[in-house]
Amino acid sequence: MMEIKKVGLITSGGDAPGMNACLRFLIKGLIDRGITVYGIKRGYKGLVEKNYSILTKRDAGGIIQKGGTILGTARFPEFKNKEILEIAVRNLEELNIDLLFVIGGEGSMKGAYALHERGVKIIAIPASIDNDIYGTDESIGTDTALNAIVRSIDVIKDTASAHDRAFIIEVMGHTSGFLALYSSIAVGAEAVFIPEYDTDVDEVVRRLNQRFDEGRTNSIIVVAEGKASGYDIKQLMQEKGVKYELRVTVLGHLQRGGAPTFRDRKLSFDFATYAMELMGKGIHGVMVAKQKGNITHINLKDVITNKKHLEKRILKIVETLKWED
Ligand code: F6P
Repeated sequence: MMEIKKVGLITSGGDAPGMNACLRFLIKGLIDRGITVYGIKRGYKGLVEKNYSILTKRDAGGIIQKGGTILGTARFPEFKNKEILEIAVRNLEELNIDLLFVIGGEGSMKGAYALHERGVKIIAIPASIDNDIYGTDESIGTDTALNAIVRSIDVIKDTASAHDRAFIIEVMGHTSGFLALYSSIAVGAEAVFIPEYDTDVDEVVRRLNQRFDEGRTNSIIVVAEGKASGYDIKQLMQEKGVKYELRVTVLGHLQRGGAPTFRDRKLSFDFATYAMELMGKGIHGVMVAKQKGNITHINLKDVITNKKHLEKRILKIVETLKWED
């Protein structure tokens, strides 16, 4: 087995709270193993543009509680281009990087797999608020984002009640309804619209009007951005004769920053330490994962060729959200 002397760390795609915690555990752990650690700046873009430097333990100090990523990140669709990918491979060879740790979301896993196919040794770590990466039940950042959504909707409920209004809250998630579905459970929403399910708008309006007639002072409808915009749902409900006065709140990037929760810091610790164990065993071409409570790993090829689905048991909730009382 080849001895690992130099590694690269990269955060890519949308940032996720906990990326810094993960970097902290990796930087300290790797330096303790006598390994030289390169920090690649601004994702795959920095790899192509030779934007990197050696990290020290000082770089890992004071970052565990910070959202974002000290390495920076970027959307870099150009990485799909074969010539651009070749530049990245050459730069890694020139630096004599033995192994690359990629921390990122679904798109970053595709980039990681492309590098792996070109012979680069990769260990990937799932980090995305969307929690849409196949093969892992949890991704770094999702729990913090969910907490941010729940806190925001709790706040909105106060003003909604004061004005007898219904609020439509649009949340992130890319093409996944995970954030919308799980937050709707935690706030006791009256309805949720997600890409994975066809919510019956007529039924929602009928039930909201029933609530209005009963004098219920607020109603909450959560919409996943991947399904529709909050404003589209508002228009649709107005056309269908909803009695509540409606307001729309798009939570946007307020969902993606802030101090990571305990759960996300612990997940970062579990993923980082397990990734270093894999490195020690000479395993690469994989993504670390959490499955049924256990930390494990899965081939990158499986990650990028499969689509993650929402848990059926939870999906059923869409039909039963809070109507009976
Ligand atoms: O992937 C994370 C995410 O926040 C998605 O939920 C959202 O669709 C997207 O990133 C927004 O990306 P950007 O910050 O590049 O606009």
